[in-house]
Amino acid sequence: MDFQITLLPGDGIGPEVIEKAVQILQIIEKFTDNRFHFSKELIGGCSIDANGTALTEEVLNACRQSDAVLLGAVGGPKWDNPDSNIRPEQGLLALRKGLKVYANLRPVKVHPALMAASPLKEEKLSGVDMLVVRELTGGLYFGEPKGRSIINGQEHAVDTLIYSEEEIRRIVKMSFELARNRRKKVTSVDKANVLESSRLWRKVAMEVSRDFPDVILEHMLVDTASMRLVTSPSSFDVIVTENMFGDILTDEASVLTGSMGMLPSASLGNGKPGLYEPIHGSAPDIAGKGIANPIGMILSAALMLRFSLQMEKEALMIEQAVNRTIADGCRTADMGGSLSTEMMTEEIIRRIHE
Ligand code: NAD
Ligand code: IPM
Ligand code: MN
Repeated sequence: MDFQITLLPGDGIGPEVIEKAVQILQIIEKFTDNRFHFSKELIGGCSIDANGTALTEEVLNACRQSDAVLLGAVGGPKWDNPDSNIRPEQGLLALRKGLKVYANLRPVKVHPALMAASPLKEEKLSGVDMLVVRELTGGLYFGEPKGRSIINGQEHAVDTLIYSEEEIRRIVKMSFELARNRRKKVTSVDKANVLESSRLWRKVAMEVSRDFPDVILEHMLVDTASMRLVTSPSSFDVIVTENMFGDILTDEASVLTGSMGMLPSASLGNGKPGLYEPIHGSAPDIAGKGIANPIGMILSAALMLRFSLQMEKEALMIEQAVNRTIADGCRTADMGGSLSTEMMTEEIIRRIHE
């Protein structure tokens, strides 16, 4: 089959890591009858510089027409003026909304050989294998009203945390379906002791759970969850939560794996295309140095093969090569080693061929 893949390298280390994911995909292609057709487009700060907006309608349409979208990262100090109403991150939000990818899957698994790279004790880390399902197109990020205004001579700002029953139901349902093929436990994370939106979330989660008697549902407050992620991370299987809680908790969870540079994600809706991106950002502090960890991006490409292109075998080829590379002691700087982005990728490629 022929697959159209839109590449959105973005800013900072985005272009450096996406190039490596493409290199890996071109190697995988040789093992199959499938053909990947890549086209590169602008998003984020580079799109602001070229077009005055973080995502053009043309680029969004190109993404819509493709089989899958691979994204590096957006943002950077150049576009960080808090008073500017054009920001790189708007492009990413518009893309997620435009593609209707409401479910962001962020798997967090600790490789045994990397336990020493995490600040947590090894006994805490053994058996950590969770999947965070982050709601991606609702909640605080998108709720209206949103914006700034002058009230009584003072500037005020508002963001709105709003969810409909349907938005909650579809993400919770997907989490239960995913849990069925795992350890059959869903932890729904909310702030139901304070937030009305969380109380609706909890009610809908309980309703959905009736259709999944084989899966355990537990509710956990987000502050407790952030503590449990470091005190008993292996107790989690699937975590489902609203947009911003999921954003914050996954950066925290990434520390378990040794580095944020390791974590991939898949953003899915009801149809084509899926969006695949590492959870990390544009890492301005190391951009241009050739030392970024490409693993989060490469594993995102593997998730693309699995979820959008139905290439499970090839997804596993990449994941196993990455696992072997880590087991053999290859490390970029963030993992406590000294391999460059290029060298780490070469090591992974070598193990695809083994
Ligand atoms: P960041 O994720 O870019 O970086 C946080 C820290 O982790 C930095 O020290 C960085 O060097 C390190 N790091 C991240 N990815 C790495 C990798 N692959 N290899 C090695 N080290 C890595 O977060 P930040 O610095 O708070 O944000 C920078 C910019 O990125 C901001 O503009 C933010 O909005 C944006 N951002 C974008 C995305 C995205 O595009 N999906 C995600 C998060 C942040
Ligand atoms: C992420 C990022 C984004 C988010 C930003 C850049 C909009 O932090 O993908 O985790 O908050 O969703
Ligand atoms: Mn984030």
